[in-house]
Amino acid sequence: MGCFGCFGPRAGGASAARKPSRLVNHCTDDSSVVDARRKVAPDVGNGCAHSFTFKDLLVATGYFNQANFIGQGGFGKVYKGKISRTNAQGVSDTQVVAVKQLGRESLQGSAEFLVEVLLLTMLSHPNLVSLVGFCAQGDERLLVYEYMPFGSLESHLFDVPVGKQPLDWNTRVKIAVGVADGLWYLHNVADPPIIYRDMKAANVLLDEDFNPKLSDFGLAKVGPVGDRTHVSTRVMGTFGYCAPDYAVTGKLTLKSDIYSFGVLLLELITGRSIYDASRPKPERDLLTLARPCMLNKRKYHRLADPALQGAYPPLAFNQLVVISSMCLQEQPQFRPIINDIVVGLNHIASQPYVSSMGSPAYCVSPQFDRTPSRRRGGRRPAQYSS
Ligand SMILES: Nc1ncnc2c1ncn2[C@@H]1O[C@H](COP(=O)(O)OP(=O)(O)OP(=O)(O)O)[C@@H](O)[C@H]1O
Ligand SMILES: [Mg+2]
Repeated sequence: MGCFGCFGPRAGGASAARKPSRLVNHCTDDSSVVDARRKVAPDVGNGCAHSFTFKDLLVATGYFNQANFIGQGGFGKVYKGKISRTNAQGVSDTQVVAVKQLGRESLQGSAEFLVEVLLLTMLSHPNLVSLVGFCAQGDERLLVYEYMPFGSLESHLFDVPVGKQPLDWNTRVKIAVGVADGLWYLHNVADPPIIYRDMKAANVLLDEDFNPKLSDFGLAKVGPVGDRTHVSTRVMGTFGYCAPDYAVTGKLTLKSDIYSFGVLLLELITGRSIYDASRPKPERDLLTLARPCMLNKRKYHRLADPALQGAYPPLAFNQLVVISSMCLQEQPQFRPIINDIVVGLNHIASQPYVSSMGSPAYCVSPQFDRTPSRRRGGRRPAQYSS
């Protein structure tokens, strides 16, 4: 029985309806994405990433014009661009894209570039970012994605500038459901399953309707197959999001992703980053602060992001805290599987917050007050590998 047995599944749930055909039937090598790719039937996945020349991408980004610069991560710089194409019928169209260029000093190298291209070519789901194409010319390595106009969840959740509208409760739940749907696809539809390994607010990208898409598959791994329970790897990921069992043993399982998803839920609930180096030492680690409240139902409300101003349905709020705590169990076997999480989150989504007349009650929780951090400019968790 699932962990959320009390929540009934929604009839004809969106996730079930989206289930595409299975990708691979058998894979003998549990860690090789390349092998898995060889076994993918040609008619599944998006399978149509275009191979661009470096010149194509120079033109697309206005010669990597600073005005098109979007941001920078561990892989390199990201630029907005426009790709113009003419099809066989002579009809041309233009697509707005994000072009990620592997930096020469990048710790994430060619191997991750290859994993990203291969995985995103064979996977296709509304909650995974689409790969439009890539460029591997000489020592240039670039990835071309669909452009996500609202950027990352991180930029909407933490250190929101004064005057910018914080995410409301219903939008947070919508994002949680979409991210869970994407993870459900990776864990259940991809065959062998894919362990995402890099779940974090910075890797959740948003479209103009706040639909979330998972990005950055360079660290993803083909999960265990047959009787195996785990894949052994170097520990990689992002500090704070990494499951403790994986960090200690290097044994990667689907439950490693579930832990990271629990962290993401806690961030959605509190509006605070899992690790904020800009705060005084005792306040930096969100989980240390949150654990006592998560263990006591009467203290759940203290976890609420003050920016919500109390505008959330209390029952659904409590249920979200419960799901987050279950995902954050130290022992992986006690964490729920993604199917149960999807059911639970859909149940929460079925109880949206409806604002009453007048202003919502203001909820101040000094322990989780994020205002000082905003002023100081919070810092993101560090990437690490060992
Ligand atoms: N497809 C996209 N559409 C719009 N913005 C994007 C897209 N991909 C990345 N970005 C933005 O580019 C910036 C850098 O992203 P990138 O994924 O390289 O780094 P990151 O996720 O912030 O860090 P990390 O390297 O640790 O994953 C971020 O601000 C991100 O929101
Ligand atoms: Mg990223």
